[in-house]
Amino acid sequence: MQQDNKEYREKTIFNGLNGHSLISPFNSEKQLFDPKINLGILASGNGSNFENIIKSIQNNQLNAKISILIVNNPNCLAIKKALKYDIPYVIINHRDCNSRLEHDKLVLEKLEELSVELVVMAGWMRIVGEEIINKFKDRLINIHPSLLPSFKGVNAIQQAIDNRVTITGCTVHYVQKDVDSGSIIIQAAVPIKEQDSKETLRKRIQNMEHIILPLAIAKVAKNIRTSFKDNK
Ligand code: GAR
Repeated sequence: MQQDNKEYREKTIFNGLNGHSLISPFNSEKQLFDPKINLGILASGNGSNFENIIKSIQNNQLNAKISILIVNNPNCLAIKKALKYDIPYVIINHRDCNSRLEHDKLVLEKLEELSVELVVMAGWMRIVGEEIINKFKDRLINIHPSLLPSFKGVNAIQQAIDNRVTITGCTVHYVQKDVDSGSIIIQAAVPIKEQDSKETLRKRIQNMEHIILPLAIAKVAKNIRTSFKDNK
């Protein structure tokens, strides 16, 4: 515990002094799970967070396995990453479904079929329905590119620029019915520089996303396994 506090202090003070970033809460202690925590990843875009989760597993930072990548967009680059790292994936295209409910049902069926314990929305650009939220209560998390509760919804990075804030960042939070409003798990602050474009800012925010998402997964996985033991 003492070690944690020391590490936390060093990390935050160091980062603060350099004006780069601040992560809170910060705990890089490795969590071991037996069996490994079983993840399902939902993605719609480039899949840089997805790829980073894979790398965190490969370098033993994260004691997890990814059972499935689910994408809703057949053209998204996340699929290429699944192929590159030999991760099973499925395309559940919302355009092929008659309703949001039907799409949610297919996603839920796949997650349950594979006994996924923790669902990570890593750039999933769709609202998930109540059935998934209820089935995965405290086991469904999302990463969002702002310091919530500021700048919810789409275009969070542009919203921060337009509002001329000087610090923005990223948040991992539990998913609940109202968009981007569940309990916060970890946040990272990222200063906005005067010369920043949306793209330069996005890159720095994503660098921080790649740090906090694996940390948040480990934190939530620990809670899942603890509450499972308590309920036994
Ligand atoms: C990430 O920046 C994530 O925060 C954002 O999409 C990006 C996906 O990037 N998510 C949202 O805006 C959700 N509201 P990636 O596909 O490279 O991981």
